[in-house]
Amino acid sequence: MKDILTAPFLTQMRETTANMYRLGWDERNGGNISLLLTEEEIGSYLDLTDVKRRIPTGFTAKELDGKYFLVTGTGKYFKNVQADPANNLGLIRITQNGASAELLWGWEDGGKFTSELPAHLMSHRARLAVDPENRVVMHCHPTYTLAMNYVHPLDEREMTRTLWQMCTECIVVFPDGVGVLPWMLCGTNEIGEATAEKMKEYRLVIWGMHGIYGAGKTMDEAFGLIETVEKAAQIYMLTAHLPRLNTIRDDQLRTLAEAFGVAYRKDFLNE
Ligand code: 13P
Ligand code: ZN
Repeated sequence: MKDILTAPFLTQMRETTANMYRLGWDERNGGNISLLLTEEEIGSYLDLTDVKRRIPTGFTAKELDGKYFLVTGTGKYFKNVQADPANNLGLIRITQNGASAELLWGWEDGGKFTSELPAHLMSHRARLAVDPENRVVMHCHPTYTLAMNYVHPLDEREMTRTLWQMCTECIVVFPDGVGVLPWMLCGTNEIGEATAEKMKEYRLVIWGMHGIYGAGKTMDEAFGLIETVEKAAQIYMLTAHLPRLNTIRDDQLRTLAEAFGVAYRKDFLNE
């Protein structure tokens, strides 16, 4: 068996959580990530018959049975993942129609998966139905995105339009826009189901006055989506209180989307 600490997926998770922490998106235990892995990817690092613990998930999702995820732990700090992955992360296999997670590695101090596992797994299921290559679901509390939630209408069309107008490349990076949920109680199956419903349409979902979810084929894609929204939200917060002299007009947004050949939300632009 190879040493799991040398596995590329573990390196990626350690580097990503460290970057997110340094960007200020994940204070204390804020944020969580799940990465879908294949048996081939993990088989040379772990004995897949050696189940350390079985942890109930509290929901069902039979499409996910047999799938493997590397997940951040509940109450764990992103700040600490780099130095101590074995206590802060876990590698699980989903079984019993989604009701149980078999721990194969990690959470050595007795910890368990993020409280947002329902939102992660339900979002994976929703994204996989749209894009069979989706592998990452990422949640965090980026500062400017969160600040914007307090001063901007929590409306998908309005929020997407404002973000698109803040940086030229936004419409190219997230032509599908951002989904928006109102404030809801986090850590529940209900917010998980609501997030997954939005994920059928969007790779980005804002949780009103809480944070954001991003999904993608790779860690870079999910991270890049959130990073681009956060940059746009920063420009918005730096300018919202100042007289607006210039803007990227709807016809310019359309020109951009068409020049880059992206499938954009045409209904989010005015005639
Ligand atoms: P966990 O520590 O359970 O991952 O929760 C953090 C969080 O961001 C809740 O939304
Ligand atoms: Zn959160």
